[in-house]
Amino acid sequence: MASSLLSRQVAVSLQHNLRLSVPRYRCVSKAATKSSVEFEYDGPLMKTTVPGPRSKDLMKQLGEIQEAGAVNFFCNYEESRGNYLVDVDGNRMLDVYTQISSIPIGYSHPALIKVMQNPDNLSAFVNRPALGILPPENFPEKLLETLLSVAPKGLRKVQTMACGSCSNENAYKTVFIWYRNKERGDIKPTKEEIETCMVNQAPGCPDYSILSFMGGFHGRTLGCLATTHSKVVHKLDVPSFDWPIAPFPRLRYPLEEFVRENAQEEARCLEEVEDLIVKYRKKGKTVAGIVIEPIQSEGGDNHASDDFFRKLREIARKHGCAFHVDEVQTGCGGTGKFWAHDHWGLEDPADIVSFSKKMLTGGYYYKEEMTPDMPYRIFNTWMGDPSKNLLLSAVLNVIKAERLLQEVARSGKALLDGLYDLQARYPHILSAARGRGTFCAIDVRDEDLRNSLIIKARNKGVVLGGCGERSIRFRPALVFKEYHAHLFLNIFGDILAEYK
Ligand SMILES: Cc1ncc(COP(=O)(O)O)c(C=O)c1O
Repeated sequence: MASSLLSRQVAVSLQHNLRLSVPRYRCVSKAATKSSVEFEYDGPLMKTTVPGPRSKDLMKQLGEIQEAGAVNFFCNYEESRGNYLVDVDGNRMLDVYTQISSIPIGYSHPALIKVMQNPDNLSAFVNRPALGILPPENFPEKLLETLLSVAPKGLRKVQTMACGSCSNENAYKTVFIWYRNKERGDIKPTKEEIETCMVNQAPGCPDYSILSFMGGFHGRTLGCLATTHSKVVHKLDVPSFDWPIAPFPRLRYPLEEFVRENAQEEARCLEEVEDLIVKYRKKGKTVAGIVIEPIQSEGGDNHASDDFFRKLREIARKHGCAFHVDEVQTGCGGTGKFWAHDHWGLEDPADIVSFSKKMLTGGYYYKEEMTPDMPYRIFNTWMGDPSKNLLLSAVLNVIKAERLLQEVARSGKALLDGLYDLQARYPHILSAARGRGTFCAIDVRDEDLRNSLIIKARNKGVVLGGCGERSIRFRPALVFKEYHAHLFLNIFGDILAEYK
Protein backbone atom coordinates (compact mmCIF):
# COMPACT_ATOMS: atom_id res chain seq x y z
CA MET A 1 0.00 0.00 0.00
CA ALA A 2 2.64 2.44 1.11
CA SER A 3 4.96 1.79 -1.77
CA SER A 4 2.22 1.88 -4.38
CA LEU A 5 1.03 5.17 -2.95
CA LEU A 6 4.54 6.49 -3.06
CA SER A 7 5.17 5.42 -6.61
CA ARG A 8 1.90 7.01 -7.64
CA GLN A 9 2.87 10.20 -5.86
CA VAL A 10 6.33 10.49 -7.26
CA ALA A 11 5.90 8.98 -10.69
CA VAL A 12 2.60 10.60 -11.60
CA SER A 13 3.08 13.96 -10.05
CA LEU A 14 6.72 14.61 -10.70
CA GLN A 15 7.29 13.08 -14.10
CA HIS A 16 3.99 13.32 -15.95
CA ASN A 17 2.47 16.41 -14.48
CA LEU A 18 5.45 18.55 -13.82
CA ARG A 19 7.70 17.26 -16.59
CA LEU A 20 10.73 17.70 -14.40
CA SER A 21 14.18 16.73 -15.57
CA VAL A 22 15.82 13.47 -14.44
CA PRO A 23 15.84 13.52 -10.65
CA ARG A 24 19.16 14.53 -9.08
CA TYR A 25 18.13 13.70 -5.57
CA ARG A 26 15.03 11.95 -4.38
CA CYS A 27 13.36 11.64 -1.02
CA VAL A 28 11.69 8.30 -0.62
CA SER A 29 8.81 7.74 1.77
CA LYS A 30 8.94 4.47 3.67
CA ALA A 31 5.58 4.81 5.33
CA ALA A 32 2.23 6.27 4.63
CA THR A 33 -0.54 5.98 7.17
CA LYS A 34 -3.93 5.07 5.83
CA SER A 35 -6.42 7.81 6.60
CA SER A 36 -9.51 9.46 5.29
CA VAL A 37 -7.31 11.96 3.54
CA GLU A 38 -6.63 9.39 0.86
CA PHE A 39 -9.66 10.87 -0.82
CA GLU A 40 -7.23 13.51 -2.04
CA TYR A 41 -5.33 13.72 -5.32
CA ASP A 42 -2.19 11.86 -6.34
CA GLY A 43 -0.04 14.93 -6.73
CA PRO A 44 0.23 18.37 -8.29
CA LEU A 45 -1.02 18.92 -11.83
CA MET A 46 -0.06 22.14 -13.58
CA LYS A 47 -1.76 23.40 -16.73
CA THR A 48 -0.68 27.05 -16.84
CA THR A 49 1.64 29.34 -14.97
CA VAL A 50 -0.02 30.84 -11.91
CA PRO A 51 -1.89 33.13 -12.02
CA GLY A 52 -3.34 31.69 -15.23
CA PRO A 53 -5.61 33.50 -17.71
CA ARG A 54 -8.86 32.97 -15.78
CA SER A 55 -7.28 34.17 -12.54
CA LYS A 56 -5.88 37.24 -14.31
CA ASP A 57 -9.29 38.05 -15.71
CA LEU A 58 -10.90 37.75 -12.27
CA MET A 59 -8.11 39.80 -10.68
CA LYS A 60 -8.92 42.59 -13.10
CA GLN A 61 -12.64 42.33 -12.31
CA LEU A 62 -12.07 42.39 -8.57
CA GLY A 63 -9.57 45.23 -8.89
CA GLU A 64 -12.36 47.35 -10.30
CA ILE A 65 -14.45 46.65 -7.18
CA GLN A 66 -11.81 46.85 -4.44
CA GLU A 67 -8.07 47.02 -3.81
CA ALA A 68 -7.02 43.51 -4.82
CA GLY A 69 -3.27 43.84 -5.21
CA ALA A 70 -2.54 41.08 -2.70
CA VAL A 71 -4.52 38.40 -4.56
CA ASN A 72 -2.20 35.59 -5.67
CA PHE A 73 -4.73 33.70 -7.78
CA PHE A 74 -8.38 32.66 -7.66
CA CYS A 75 -9.31 29.25 -6.30
CA ASN A 76 -11.74 26.50 -7.11
CA TYR A 77 -12.60 25.29 -3.62
CA GLU A 78 -15.07 22.73 -4.90
CA GLU A 79 -12.23 20.86 -6.59
CA SER A 80 -9.70 21.36 -3.77
CA ARG A 81 -9.14 18.29 -1.59
CA GLY A 82 -6.89 17.31 1.27
CA ASN A 83 -3.48 18.89 0.84
CA TYR A 84 -4.26 20.08 -2.69
CA LEU A 85 -5.54 23.52 -3.64
CA VAL A 86 -7.01 23.80 -7.14
CA ASP A 87 -7.13 27.15 -8.92
CA VAL A 88 -9.64 28.46 -11.47
CA ASP A 89 -7.32 27.52 -14.34
CA GLY A 90 -7.35 23.89 -13.25
CA ASN A 91 -3.89 23.93 -11.65
CA ARG A 92 -3.65 21.61 -8.69
CA MET A 93 -1.03 22.51 -6.11
CA LEU A 94 0.30 20.90 -2.95
CA ASP A 95 -0.63 23.52 -0.37
CA VAL A 96 2.04 23.99 2.27
CA TYR A 97 0.69 27.37 3.34
CA THR A 98 -3.04 26.51 3.78
CA GLN A 99 -4.79 29.90 3.71
CA ILE A 100 -2.19 31.52 5.99
CA SER A 101 -2.08 28.50 8.26
CA SER A 102 -5.81 28.20 8.80
CA ILE A 103 -6.92 24.88 7.27
CA PRO A 104 -6.74 22.24 10.01
CA ILE A 105 -7.46 18.94 8.24
CA GLY A 106 -7.19 19.75 4.55
CA TYR A 107 -9.70 20.93 1.97
CA SER A 108 -13.21 19.45 1.73
CA HIS A 109 -12.55 16.90 4.45
CA PRO A 110 -15.35 14.29 4.44
CA ALA A 111 -15.88 14.73 8.19
CA LEU A 112 -16.58 18.44 7.68
CA ILE A 113 -18.85 17.82 4.74
CA LYS A 114 -20.80 15.40 6.90
CA VAL A 115 -21.34 18.12 9.51
CA MET A 116 -22.73 20.40 6.81
CA GLN A 117 -24.97 17.66 5.44
CA ASN A 118 -26.44 16.71 8.80
CA PRO A 119 -30.00 18.15 8.88
CA ASP A 120 -29.70 18.57 12.66
CA ASN A 121 -27.00 21.17 12.05
CA LEU A 122 -28.87 23.14 9.47
CA SER A 123 -30.29 25.79 11.77
CA ALA A 124 -26.83 26.56 13.17
CA PHE A 125 -25.63 27.45 9.67
CA VAL A 126 -28.75 29.33 8.68
CA ASN A 127 -29.40 31.36 11.84
CA ARG A 128 -26.32 33.13 13.09
CA PRO A 129 -27.15 34.33 16.59
CA ALA A 130 -26.03 37.29 18.66
CA LEU A 131 -24.34 34.82 21.00
CA GLY A 132 -23.87 37.21 23.91
CA ILE A 133 -27.61 37.65 24.39
CA LEU A 134 -29.43 34.81 22.59
CA PRO A 135 -27.31 31.65 22.46
CA PRO A 136 -28.74 28.35 21.19
CA GLU A 137 -29.68 25.58 23.63
CA ASN A 138 -26.67 23.41 22.85
CA PHE A 139 -24.10 26.22 23.19
CA PRO A 140 -22.69 25.31 26.65
CA GLU A 141 -22.59 21.63 25.71
CA LYS A 142 -20.78 22.39 22.44
CA LEU A 143 -18.23 24.59 24.19
CA LEU A 144 -17.51 21.81 26.65
CA GLU A 145 -17.24 19.25 23.87
CA THR A 146 -14.96 21.40 21.71
CA LEU A 147 -12.97 24.33 23.05
CA LEU A 148 -12.94 23.27 26.68
CA SER A 149 -11.98 19.70 25.81
CA VAL A 150 -8.66 21.06 24.55
CA ALA A 151 -8.27 23.97 26.98
CA PRO A 152 -4.65 24.76 27.84
CA LYS A 153 -3.49 23.64 31.26
CA GLY A 154 -4.91 25.76 34.07
CA LEU A 155 -7.53 27.57 31.99
CA ARG A 156 -11.18 26.70 32.33
CA LYS A 157 -12.92 29.69 30.87
CA VAL A 158 -13.24 30.60 27.23
CA GLN A 159 -14.67 33.50 25.27
CA THR A 160 -15.33 32.98 21.57
CA MET A 161 -14.73 35.71 19.02
CA ALA A 162 -14.68 35.94 15.25
CA CYS A 163 -11.03 36.34 14.17
CA GLY A 164 -7.53 36.51 15.57
CA SER A 165 -7.35 40.29 15.87
CA CYS A 166 -10.74 40.48 17.51
CA SER A 167 -9.67 37.78 19.99
CA ASN A 168 -6.49 39.61 20.95
CA GLU A 169 -8.20 42.99 21.06
CA ASN A 170 -10.77 41.68 23.55
CA ALA A 171 -8.14 39.75 25.47
CA TYR A 172 -6.24 43.03 25.99
CA LYS A 173 -9.43 44.67 27.22
CA THR A 174 -9.96 41.74 29.59
CA VAL A 175 -6.44 42.30 30.93
CA PHE A 176 -6.97 46.04 31.46
CA ILE A 177 -10.31 45.56 33.22
CA TRP A 178 -8.79 42.85 35.44
CA TYR A 179 -5.81 45.04 36.27
CA ARG A 180 -7.90 48.08 37.16
CA ASN A 181 -10.21 46.04 39.35
CA LYS A 182 -7.19 44.56 41.07
CA GLU A 183 -5.99 48.08 41.88
CA ARG A 184 -9.42 49.30 42.96
CA GLY A 185 -10.11 46.39 45.27
CA ASP A 186 -13.65 46.67 46.57
CA ILE A 187 -14.01 50.36 45.79
CA LYS A 188 -16.49 51.26 43.02
CA PRO A 189 -15.39 53.41 40.02
CA THR A 190 -15.38 57.08 41.04
CA LYS A 191 -17.55 59.81 39.50
CA GLU A 192 -14.39 61.25 37.93
CA GLU A 193 -13.52 57.92 36.34
CA ILE A 194 -17.01 57.60 34.95
CA GLU A 195 -16.91 61.08 33.45
CA THR A 196 -13.37 60.95 32.08
CA CYS A 197 -13.74 57.58 30.38
CA MET A 198 -16.34 59.13 28.07
CA VAL A 199 -13.80 61.65 26.75
CA ASN A 200 -10.82 59.28 26.47
CA GLN A 201 -9.04 60.75 29.49
CA ALA A 202 -7.46 59.32 32.64
CA PRO A 203 -8.35 58.21 35.22
CA GLY A 204 -11.41 56.65 33.51
CA CYS A 205 -9.17 55.56 30.62
CA PRO A 206 -6.04 54.62 32.55
CA ASP A 207 -2.67 54.89 30.88
CA TYR A 208 -1.99 51.14 31.05
CA SER A 209 0.11 49.37 28.48
CA ILE A 210 0.73 45.92 27.01
CA LEU A 211 4.37 44.95 26.59
CA SER A 212 5.09 43.27 23.26
CA PHE A 213 8.15 42.18 21.31
CA MET A 214 9.94 43.51 18.26
CA GLY A 215 9.02 41.32 15.31
CA GLY A 216 5.76 40.22 16.94
CA PHE A 217 2.43 40.10 15.13
CA HIS A 218 -0.87 40.19 16.98
CA GLY A 219 -3.25 41.62 14.41
CA ARG A 220 -4.18 44.80 12.66
CA THR A 221 -6.91 46.42 14.77
CA LEU A 222 -5.78 49.48 16.69
CA GLY A 223 -4.95 47.87 20.05
CA CYS A 224 -3.41 44.80 18.44
CA LEU A 225 -1.48 46.96 16.01
CA ALA A 226 0.17 48.75 18.92
CA THR A 227 1.68 45.35 19.79
CA THR A 228 2.47 44.35 16.18
CA HIS A 229 5.99 45.11 14.99
CA SER A 230 6.62 42.86 12.03
CA LYS A 231 6.23 45.00 8.89
CA VAL A 232 5.89 48.69 8.08
CA VAL A 233 2.96 48.05 5.74
CA HIS A 234 0.77 47.13 8.71
CA LYS A 235 1.58 50.23 10.72
CA LEU A 236 2.33 53.23 8.54
CA ASP A 237 -0.02 56.22 9.00
CA VAL A 238 -2.01 54.64 11.85
CA PRO A 239 -1.94 56.39 15.27
CA SER A 240 -0.72 54.14 18.05
CA PHE A 241 0.01 53.90 21.77
CA ASP A 242 3.35 54.47 23.44
CA TRP A 243 3.58 50.95 24.83
CA PRO A 244 6.84 49.16 25.66
CA ILE A 245 8.47 46.99 22.98
CA ALA A 246 11.11 44.54 24.14
CA PRO A 247 13.68 42.88 21.87
CA PHE A 248 12.79 39.32 20.89
CA PRO A 249 15.84 37.02 21.02
CA ARG A 250 17.68 36.80 17.71
CA LEU A 251 18.84 33.21 17.98
CA ARG A 252 21.31 31.23 15.93
CA TYR A 253 20.18 27.96 14.36
CA PRO A 254 20.24 25.05 14.80
CA LEU A 255 19.39 25.84 18.42
CA GLU A 256 21.22 22.75 19.78
CA GLU A 257 24.51 24.05 18.36
CA PHE A 258 24.36 27.53 19.84
CA VAL A 259 23.03 26.88 23.31
CA ARG A 260 25.47 29.17 25.15
CA GLU A 261 25.27 32.12 22.70
CA ASN A 262 21.50 31.85 22.53
CA ALA A 263 21.15 31.70 26.31
CA GLN A 264 23.13 34.96 26.55
CA GLU A 265 20.91 36.60 23.94
CA GLU A 266 17.77 35.46 25.76
CA ALA A 267 19.12 36.74 29.09
CA ARG A 268 19.73 40.14 27.47
CA CYS A 269 16.14 40.28 26.21
CA LEU A 270 14.66 39.22 29.55
CA GLU A 271 16.70 41.89 31.32
CA GLU A 272 15.30 44.44 28.89
CA VAL A 273 11.75 43.23 29.60
CA GLU A 274 12.21 43.89 33.32
CA ASP A 275 13.83 47.27 32.67
CA LEU A 276 10.92 48.29 30.45
CA ILE A 277 8.33 47.22 33.02
CA VAL A 278 10.05 49.39 35.63
CA LYS A 279 10.59 52.30 33.22
CA TYR A 280 6.98 52.32 32.02
CA ARG A 281 5.62 52.15 35.53
CA LYS A 282 7.71 55.22 36.39
CA LYS A 283 6.35 56.92 33.26
CA GLY A 284 2.82 56.29 34.49
CA LYS A 285 2.12 53.70 31.77
CA THR A 286 1.94 50.62 33.93
CA VAL A 287 2.39 47.33 32.07
CA ALA A 288 -0.83 45.40 32.70
CA GLY A 289 0.07 42.50 30.41
CA ILE A 290 2.78 40.90 28.30
CA VAL A 291 1.81 39.38 24.96
CA ILE A 292 3.98 36.95 23.02
CA GLU A 293 3.78 34.35 20.24
CA PRO A 294 5.37 30.96 20.96
CA ILE A 295 7.08 31.29 17.57
CA GLN A 296 7.04 34.74 15.99
CA SER A 297 5.37 33.88 12.72
CA GLU A 298 4.60 36.82 10.45
CA GLY A 299 7.78 38.43 11.81
CA GLY A 300 10.02 35.67 10.38
CA ASP A 301 9.51 32.42 12.29
CA ASN A 302 11.72 33.50 15.16
CA HIS A 303 12.11 30.93 17.91
CA ALA A 304 13.08 31.21 21.55
CA SER A 305 13.86 28.43 24.00
CA ASP A 306 11.34 26.88 26.39
CA ASP A 307 13.49 28.25 29.18
CA PHE A 308 13.10 31.80 27.83
CA PHE A 309 9.32 31.52 27.95
CA ARG A 310 9.33 30.00 31.43
CA LYS A 311 11.46 32.89 32.67
CA LEU A 312 9.25 35.42 30.93
CA ARG A 313 6.23 33.92 32.62
CA GLU A 314 8.02 34.34 35.96
CA ILE A 315 8.77 37.99 35.21
CA ALA A 316 5.11 38.61 34.38
CA ARG A 317 4.05 37.02 37.66
CA LYS A 318 6.67 38.90 39.67
CA HIS A 319 5.48 42.27 38.32
CA GLY A 320 1.77 41.46 38.49
CA CYS A 321 1.29 41.59 34.70
CA ALA A 322 -0.98 39.17 32.85
CA PHE A 323 0.89 36.67 30.66
CA HIS A 324 -0.91 36.39 27.33
CA VAL A 325 0.23 33.70 24.88
CA ASP A 326 -0.98 34.40 21.35
CA GLU A 327 -1.54 30.97 19.78
CA VAL A 328 -3.53 32.29 16.83
CA GLN A 329 -1.02 30.82 14.39
CA THR A 330 0.78 28.21 16.49
CA GLY A 331 -2.31 26.61 18.07
CA CYS A 332 -4.15 23.44 17.03
CA GLY A 333 -1.34 21.01 16.50
CA GLY A 334 1.06 22.39 13.91
CA THR A 335 4.03 22.19 16.29
CA GLY A 336 3.29 18.56 17.22
CA LYS A 337 1.55 19.49 20.47
CA PHE A 338 -1.96 20.85 20.51
CA TRP A 339 -0.75 24.18 21.91
CA ALA A 340 2.77 25.29 21.09
CA HIS A 341 3.20 26.51 24.66
CA ASP A 342 2.59 22.93 25.87
CA HIS A 343 6.25 22.44 24.91
CA TRP A 344 7.39 24.88 27.61
CA GLY A 345 6.29 22.94 30.66
CA LEU A 346 5.00 26.01 32.52
CA GLU A 347 4.43 25.44 36.22
CA ASP A 348 2.25 28.53 36.49
CA PRO A 349 -0.07 28.46 33.47
CA ALA A 350 -0.53 31.42 31.15
CA ASP A 351 -3.27 33.86 32.17
CA ILE A 352 -4.67 34.23 28.66
CA VAL A 353 -4.28 32.08 25.54
CA SER A 354 -5.80 33.41 22.31
CA PHE A 355 -6.56 31.33 19.24
CA SER A 356 -8.15 31.43 15.78
CA LYS A 357 -7.09 30.11 12.33
CA LYS A 358 -7.00 26.26 12.48
CA MET A 359 -9.43 26.38 15.42
CA LEU A 360 -11.98 27.74 12.92
CA THR A 361 -13.43 30.05 15.57
CA GLY A 362 -11.51 32.84 17.23
CA GLY A 363 -11.42 33.36 20.97
CA TYR A 364 -9.34 33.20 24.09
CA TYR A 365 -9.06 31.09 27.22
CA TYR A 366 -8.58 32.92 30.47
CA LYS A 367 -8.07 32.33 34.16
CA GLU A 368 -11.08 32.43 36.42
CA GLU A 369 -9.92 35.65 38.11
CA MET A 370 -9.97 37.43 34.75
CA THR A 371 -13.69 36.96 34.30
CA PRO A 372 -15.09 40.43 33.53
CA ASP A 373 -16.97 41.91 36.47
CA MET A 374 -20.03 42.99 34.47
CA PRO A 375 -21.95 41.94 31.36
CA TYR A 376 -21.33 43.89 28.13
CA ARG A 377 -17.76 44.81 29.10
CA ILE A 378 -16.52 42.22 26.61
CA PHE A 379 -19.15 42.08 23.94
CA ASN A 380 -19.98 42.40 20.28
CA THR A 381 -22.85 41.30 18.07
CA TRP A 382 -21.74 37.82 17.08
CA MET A 383 -19.07 36.90 19.67
CA GLY A 384 -18.03 34.00 17.47
CA ASP A 385 -20.21 31.66 15.46
CA PRO A 386 -21.69 28.46 16.91
CA SER A 387 -21.63 26.76 13.49
CA LYS A 388 -17.83 26.89 13.73
CA ASN A 389 -18.01 24.89 16.96
CA LEU A 390 -19.78 22.12 15.07
CA LEU A 391 -16.99 22.04 12.51
CA LEU A 392 -14.36 22.24 15.24
CA SER A 393 -15.93 19.26 16.94
CA ALA A 394 -15.40 17.21 13.77
CA VAL A 395 -11.84 18.53 13.42
CA LEU A 396 -10.97 17.49 16.98
CA ASN A 397 -12.43 14.02 16.38
CA VAL A 398 -10.33 13.57 13.25
CA ILE A 399 -7.19 14.80 15.02
CA LYS A 400 -7.76 12.22 17.73
CA ALA A 401 -8.95 9.32 15.57
CA GLU A 402 -6.14 9.68 13.05
CA ARG A 403 -3.49 10.56 15.66
CA LEU A 404 -2.64 13.62 13.67
CA LEU A 405 -0.32 15.11 16.27
CA GLN A 406 1.94 12.08 15.91
CA GLU A 407 1.67 12.43 12.14
CA VAL A 408 2.72 16.07 12.45
CA ALA A 409 5.76 15.06 14.49
CA ARG A 410 6.66 12.47 11.83
CA SER A 411 6.08 14.58 8.74
CA GLY A 412 7.65 17.59 10.50
CA LYS A 413 10.83 15.58 11.08
CA ALA A 414 10.91 14.52 7.42
CA LEU A 415 10.39 18.15 6.38
CA LEU A 416 13.03 19.59 8.71
CA ASP A 417 15.58 16.88 7.93
CA GLY A 418 15.01 17.58 4.26
CA LEU A 419 15.48 21.32 4.81
CA TYR A 420 18.72 20.68 6.73
CA ASP A 421 19.91 18.60 3.83
CA LEU A 422 18.99 21.25 1.25
CA GLN A 423 20.71 23.99 3.22
CA ALA A 424 23.84 21.85 3.46
CA ARG A 425 23.78 21.41 -0.32
CA TYR A 426 22.94 25.05 -1.13
CA PRO A 427 24.67 27.04 1.61
CA HIS A 428 24.94 30.07 -0.70
CA ILE A 429 21.14 30.20 -0.87
CA LEU A 430 19.60 28.63 2.23
CA SER A 431 20.29 28.90 5.94
CA ALA A 432 18.75 28.69 9.40
CA ALA A 433 16.34 25.79 8.79
CA ARG A 434 14.23 25.59 11.92
CA GLY A 435 10.94 24.30 13.15
CA ARG A 436 8.76 22.37 15.54
CA GLY A 437 6.44 19.75 14.07
CA THR A 438 5.58 20.91 10.57
CA PHE A 439 5.76 24.54 11.74
CA CYS A 440 9.05 25.02 9.90
CA ALA A 441 10.91 27.77 8.10
CA ILE A 442 14.13 28.43 6.24
CA ASP A 443 15.96 31.65 5.35
CA VAL A 444 16.83 32.53 1.77
CA ARG A 445 19.83 34.69 0.77
CA ASP A 446 17.74 37.77 0.13
CA GLU A 447 14.15 38.90 -0.24
CA ASP A 448 14.13 38.91 -4.06
CA LEU A 449 15.40 35.37 -4.28
CA ARG A 450 12.93 34.24 -1.59
CA ASN A 451 10.05 35.74 -3.55
CA SER A 452 11.27 34.23 -6.79
CA LEU A 453 11.62 30.75 -5.20
CA ILE A 454 8.04 30.99 -3.92
CA ILE A 455 6.78 31.83 -7.41
CA LYS A 456 8.87 29.10 -9.04
CA ALA A 457 7.57 26.57 -6.53
CA ARG A 458 4.02 27.65 -7.28
CA ASN A 459 4.54 27.13 -10.98
CA LYS A 460 5.82 23.64 -10.21
CA GLY A 461 2.76 22.89 -8.10
CA VAL A 462 3.61 23.89 -4.51
CA VAL A 463 2.05 26.79 -2.61
CA LEU A 464 4.46 28.30 -0.08
CA GLY A 465 4.32 31.42 2.08
CA GLY A 466 6.94 33.96 3.03
CA CYS A 467 7.48 35.62 6.39
CA GLY A 468 9.87 38.18 7.83
CA GLU A 469 12.34 39.73 5.43
CA ARG A 470 13.63 36.65 3.69
CA SER A 471 12.16 33.48 5.17
CA ILE A 472 9.90 30.84 3.70
CA ARG A 473 7.41 29.43 6.18
CA PHE A 474 5.78 26.02 6.02
CA ARG A 475 2.25 25.75 7.35
CA PRO A 476 0.72 22.55 5.99
CA ALA A 477 -2.55 21.10 7.28
CA LEU A 478 -2.36 18.43 9.98
CA VAL A 479 -3.06 15.78 7.30
CA PHE A 480 0.30 16.52 5.67
CA LYS A 481 2.18 13.22 5.72
CA GLU A 482 5.79 12.19 5.29
CA TYR A 483 5.22 11.54 1.61
CA HIS A 484 3.87 15.06 1.12
CA ALA A 485 7.04 16.37 2.76
CA HIS A 486 9.13 14.28 0.38
CA LEU A 487 7.08 15.40 -2.59
CA PHE A 488 7.69 19.04 -1.65
CA LEU A 489 11.40 18.45 -0.99
CA ASN A 490 11.87 16.80 -4.37
CA ILE A 491 10.18 19.63 -6.21
CA PHE A 492 12.04 22.28 -4.20
CA GLY A 493 15.33 20.41 -4.68
CA ASP A 494 14.82 20.48 -8.46
CA ILE A 495 14.20 24.22 -8.37
CA LEU A 496 17.32 24.81 -6.29
CA ALA A 497 19.39 22.70 -8.68
CA GLU A 498 19.00 25.57 -11.17
CA TYR A 499 21.11 27.67 -8.78
CA LYS A 500 24.06 25.25 -8.47
C1 LIG B 1 0.01 35.28 15.96
C2 LIG B 1 -1.12 36.00 15.31
N1 LIG B 1 -1.93 36.76 16.06
C3 LIG B 1 -2.98 37.40 15.53
C4 LIG B 1 -3.25 37.32 14.18
C5 LIG B 1 -4.42 38.06 13.61
O1 LIG B 1 -5.39 37.19 13.20
P1 LIG B 1 -6.48 37.65 12.11
O2 LIG B 1 -5.75 37.83 10.82
O3 LIG B 1 -7.46 36.53 12.09
O4 LIG B 1 -7.07 38.91 12.60
C6 LIG B 1 -2.43 36.54 13.36
C7 LIG B 1 -2.70 36.44 11.92
O5 LIG B 1 -1.90 36.04 11.12
C8 LIG B 1 -1.33 35.86 13.94
O6 LIG B 1 -0.52 35.11 13.21
